Amino acid sequence: MSSNMRSAVAISILASALQVNALERRIPDGQGLTPLMGWSSWNVAQCDAASARYALDTANNFISLGLKDLGYDHVNIDDCWSTRERDSEGNLVPDPNKWPNGIRAVVDEIHGLGLKFGLYGCAGTLTCASFPGSWGYEEQDARLLAEWDIDFWKHDNCFTPCDNGALPQTCWSGNIDTRPWYATFRDALIAVSDIKPITFNLCNWGRNSVWEWGADYGHSWRIEGDNWGDWESVIRIGARASTIAEFSRPGGFNDLDMLFVGNGVLTESQERLHFGLWAIAKSPLIIGADLNTIGDSSLTILKNKALIDINQDSLGVPAEPFVPPGAPAPVNGQIYPYWAGPLSDGVVIGLSAANGAGTFSVNFSDVPGLGEGSFSWEEAYSGTTGTGTSISFDLAQDDFVAIKVTTQ
Ligand SMILES: *[C@@H]1O[C@H](CO)[C@@H](O)[C@H](O)[C@H]1NC(C)=O
Repeated sequence: MSSNMRSAVAISILASALQVNALERRIPDGQGLTPLMGWSSWNVAQCDAASARYALDTANNFISLGLKDLGYDHVNIDDCWSTRERDSEGNLVPDPNKWPNGIRAVVDEIHGLGLKFGLYGCAGTLTCASFPGSWGYEEQDARLLAEWDIDFWKHDNCFTPCDNGALPQTCWSGNIDTRPWYATFRDALIAVSDIKPITFNLCNWGRNSVWEWGADYGHSWRIEGDNWGDWESVIRIGARASTIAEFSRPGGFNDLDMLFVGNGVLTESQERLHFGLWAIAKSPLIIGADLNTIGDSSLTILKNKALIDINQDSLGVPAEPFVPPGAPAPVNGQIYPYWAGPLSDGVVIGLSAANGAGTFSVNFSDVPGLGEGSFSWEEAYSGTTGTGTSISFDLAQDDFVAIKVTTQ
């Protein structure tokens, strides 16, 4: 063997070793390099919205409302899309009342519009709403999903084994390791990835500190229990995100859960904070509103291009709290007023009035990633711009601003 050949062989052995590593680390499809953007049926009308009608309406609204042009491309159907029983061959069956032509026909139509289609299932024996779960059927289900040509799969955590072998709807026991169930489904998806690569969301509600291992298992992971559509949920999830930014990167992002913007449950200020914080924390941006009826002010928030660009920045590093001189220390369970995170061409600063109205001022020299000197900046919601060494904003209770400071 010539030395050239020998080094060529060595290189190809090295390359395949690297490839195996990549296979072990991630579903090997190069997906999930920026946070997923789209819509999900659950917050709209729970089980009732898991239908072809809602999926196709949403796809068409993505186009007519200009959401597709902004990057919203996933139409995701959540729990309750199937019948209560598998068929005689053990396959999941789309509910014929909700999917008169089956799932694949809808997927094809949505793909024809240049959009993507996501579906929901569960690691346990049943889904959270008691439809068939994938426990023991992982390979069969993954194959069916690939044959249906779906693009995204959310894997929930209900009806999984708990302490003493019990099988409750929800189990939060720290004694139980949820990891193997997600590994099983990840491997089932990898096995069919030659038919169709599928983006994989781990919906284990943050159990077992999923952010520490989620990147080896899927493209995003829920960091908390559900966003129930109340302000307390937004605070709880936002507070959790403030301590785990370091684990979230391209290919594997912290998922703060589906949005409640346009659902009539939050004030306009709260909707700005909810969307703005999710965007700068690099969460998937999954609309949870009915796009047939959404109000103008909520739609304007969801269509904020400056925040979407920050969310989709190629660096993929979440903002996290920083403590300016003289500011109080962060408090567990609260959303801290001062956030910052790096962008490929600058820094985003987030200012939150979740703990009370006030004047929020920051010297750029105190912001991680900035320093002495004058910078140009632009606030995402108002479009206000400026140049200087500091910023100052008066915020009403629960309001939020996101300032992009340009460094290049
Ligand atoms: C900004 O820096 C100036 C000058 O050093 C200082 O007087 C001021 O208190 C600082 N403001 C804030 C909000 O930190």
